[in-house]
Amino acid sequence: MPETIKLDATQTTDIEKAASLLLAGHLVAMPTETVYGLAADASNEQAVRKVFEAKQRPVGHPLIVHVASPERIRYWVDRVPEAAEKLINTFWPGPLTLLLPKKSDVSDFITGGNPGVAVRMPAHPATVATMEKLGRELVAPSANPYGRISPTTAEHVLGGLSGKIAAVLDGGDCSVGIESTIVDLTGETPVIARPGQISQSDIEACLGITLAPGKGASQVVPGSVKRHYQPVTPTVGVATDQFARLLPEITPSGERIGVIWWQSAPGELASESIMLSADPNEYARMLYTAMHSMDQANVDRIFIELPPRESRWLAVHDRLGRACTEQFG
Ligand code: TXA
Ligand code: MG
Repeated sequence: MPETIKLDATQTTDIEKAASLLLAGHLVAMPTETVYGLAADASNEQAVRKVFEAKQRPVGHPLIVHVASPERIRYWVDRVPEAAEKLINTFWPGPLTLLLPKKSDVSDFITGGNPGVAVRMPAHPATVATMEKLGRELVAPSANPYGRISPTTAEHVLGGLSGKIAAVLDGGDCSVGIESTIVDLTGETPVIARPGQISQSDIEACLGITLAPGKGASQVVPGSVKRHYQPVTPTVGVATDQFARLLPEITPSGERIGVIWWQSAPGELASESIMLSADPNEYARMLYTAMHSMDQANVDRIFIELPPRESRWLAVHDRLGRACTEQFG
């Protein structure tokens, strides 16, 4: 395949170029507010197959269908429960994916053979404009090789998939920084299948109901395997109250460590350090970029200072649980 080209999301001609590549069945990585997605024309099975090849993602892991407007879900979804309407009115466009009963003709390639199809309207204007130009929906998993960290910049995309995809539309840094919240509405009661920036309490407030606590991602969503979103470098999570004591203890002299922290400055123990934030949304926005940088920094191990075990940190803990090979506290 020829070299991957970089397109500029602020240029109309580049958006047109992205749309024509997609129409011709090529893969284009697209910016969204959560993470970059690896897009293919959802109505072209050959193109959808290429997504699995480029990512080396096992076939059978379902894909989210991205729409340019809420009305477009009628081509994919069999019926729209009232709860879905409320969530769509409140949160779209935005970082929320809904799992809804699929129309019978939606390909198993997209749903992994599940009775539900996942749909989302992303907020990035360039991606919405590309879909409007195309007049079709896009499937778009995160634009990273399978098992690696999701990309939050066009450079991250190229770092993982250069030469394997036709183009990346550079739309700047992702403002949310972690993948969308997934709400499963195919059963009797809504279930959060993957936590994200839109929290359980946001969803409860919108629907006027209380959701069962602790329904986490991993059991419900196929493809949501535990080892996922990992840096190449071994990564260890350490709680704040153990950080100062544990770090010198478990770092053999001569080891180059990279520290990602938010409260406990690592001092000279760290060869590289990146400070995040005490605010969950800010921490999430910066997290994958920090992990990508540490992977490039030639360190032997990465240490991440874990945030408090509080519900507002749920989505961040979910991602850290997957990124870390080991956690203390
Ligand atoms: O923020 C996001 O959701 C990003 C951006 C690009 O939109 N996309 C994303 O896609 O994170 P991906 O493929 O990396 O993760 C989608 C998750 C997977 O765990 C997949 O198993 C689940 O959604 N999923 C998709 N379709 C599904 C279906 N029909 N049934 C059950 N789970 C589904
Ligand atoms: Mg992914």
